[in-house]
Amino acid sequence: MGHKSLGEFIKAAEAIGDVKIIHGAGLDLEVGCLTELAAEQNGPLMLFDRFEGFPNDFRVASNVYRTSLRRYALALGFPIDAHPIELVTRLRERRQAQKPIAPLEVEDGPVLEHALSGSDVDVGMFPAPKWHSDDGGRYIGTGDLVIVRDPNTGWVNFGTYRASVQGRDRLSLWIIENKAGRIIAEKYWSKGLLCPVAVVLGCDPLTFMASSSRTKYEYAGALHGAPVEVVNGPWTGLPIPAQAEIVFEGEIPAPEEETIFEGPFGEWPGYYSHTGQECAVRVKQICYRNAPIIHGAPPLRPLLAWGDDMPGIGADLWDHLERSGITDITGVWGHCHGLMIVIALKQRYAGHAKQALLAASGFVRKGASMFRYYVAVDDDIDPSNMRDVLWAMCTRVDPATSVDIVSRTWTSDLDPRLTPVQKESGDYTIGRMLLDACKPYHWRDSFPKTNIFSPEERQQVRERWGGLLKELENSVTRRSAVK
Ligand SMILES: Cc1cc2nc3c(=O)[nH]c(=O)nc-3n(C[C@H](O)[C@H](O)[C@H](O)COP(=O)(O)O)c2cc1C
Repeated sequence: MGHKSLGEFIKAAEAIGDVKIIHGAGLDLEVGCLTELAAEQNGPLMLFDRFEGFPNDFRVASNVYRTSLRRYALALGFPIDAHPIELVTRLRERRQAQKPIAPLEVEDGPVLEHALSGSDVDVGMFPAPKWHSDDGGRYIGTGDLVIVRDPNTGWVNFGTYRASVQGRDRLSLWIIENKAGRIIAEKYWSKGLLCPVAVVLGCDPLTFMASSSRTKYEYAGALHGAPVEVVNGPWTGLPIPAQAEIVFEGEIPAPEEETIFEGPFGEWPGYYSHTGQECAVRVKQICYRNAPIIHGAPPLRPLLAWGDDMPGIGADLWDHLERSGITDITGVWGHCHGLMIVIALKQRYAGHAKQALLAASGFVRKGASMFRYYVAVDDDIDPSNMRDVLWAMCTRVDPATSVDIVSRTWTSDLDPRLTPVQKESGDYTIGRMLLDACKPYHWRDSFPKTNIFSPEERQQVRERWGGLLKELENSVTRRSAVK
């Protein structure tokens, strides 16, 4: 059973020494910049409070679990010091064993502790940081759940879409056309109706994780091993996590009736992107729990190894490769927010690595289409360790023969490398590189022997000299902290 609420997760993170509480940081620069600096150092969860002009206990939490493998593991109940590839493996095993569990409707929950409607509605009553200096607004929804119900089937969907404050009773939402949330809203609009919506600004990490899944509450329930408890929103009747922090309920009018200019926003590839007339939310009702915590998950320039659900990407791709008939995989990892995928395998036949690369390059992950580099490495390489991967790329690759380029593949409009002409015409395509960094199959056994100590030799030395190694590790940490 996972943590029931964001607050409960923060307590658990505190118990492992992974939380930093910061009083009185400025919302214009400091919250965003401290979040970025801490994430770059693989630092703690940041819990900000005592904002000037707001009640002392209205809080913002950032770097909750997406910037740290320890906290990712904590959220899922895995060992917090597990190796990255072990997390991928455990996630795959968990998913294979789990069954979807429908949410459970309950009468009441902490999210209903306070309720405001009519002229009392003011989304500006909560601290909304400016996450990046050139953001075109205050993005109160970065780690949010935007809940809608399909008017034809009754299916309840939620996704994470950026939401910015646009007035006392207005938010903007950027929902990309292919997202289920948008498709559902269009069904209301085509009937001449407004689309009821609930924007949740903080919930337990596993339910948040499920916003990127296909089955949403059912997937969240499966991850929890128990149903997510939901209350009916007083204004929309939409099911809202009972333990959520804050919820704005309202309706989205058809674009012909009202849109709002939103953006730019510092997006996950590390660049400001997208401005335009987007969905407006007319907020009708606000509910929140005591001492609410806004979940801030601002996009950050991709961090090298972790950040943003790398175990999830690894697990999804590994499943896909196995379904495609690729055997003997020993690990899959995404670097730089998954823009570079690395597959480790034990080569069984000529062309095995290339086959894996071809299969991987055909994979579409929900909502992600910007993969750039696919690298295959041998099973002595840890795909999650960039030092290992670079070494393989620099020593086992002949650039003249080990690289293939596929042109005009699908990318996202967030891709900074699209030319202005492509953007203008909606031609969101770019090339992908397949890089075989394995020892050439036919002479792999006569490939020069590596001069690094074997895992057994290393273990033997560690057993005797563990203390010395710890000292060395600490001195490296101290040196990098001084920078
Ligand atoms: C932190 C985060 C921020 C996101 N921001 C957006 C966004 O602003 N707009 C969008 O369309 N998708 C965004 N996404 C992706 C969607 O939430 C994701 O594709 C989700 O699966 C969509 O679900 P749906 O297709 O069921 O609507 C974001 C995802 C995450 C994890």
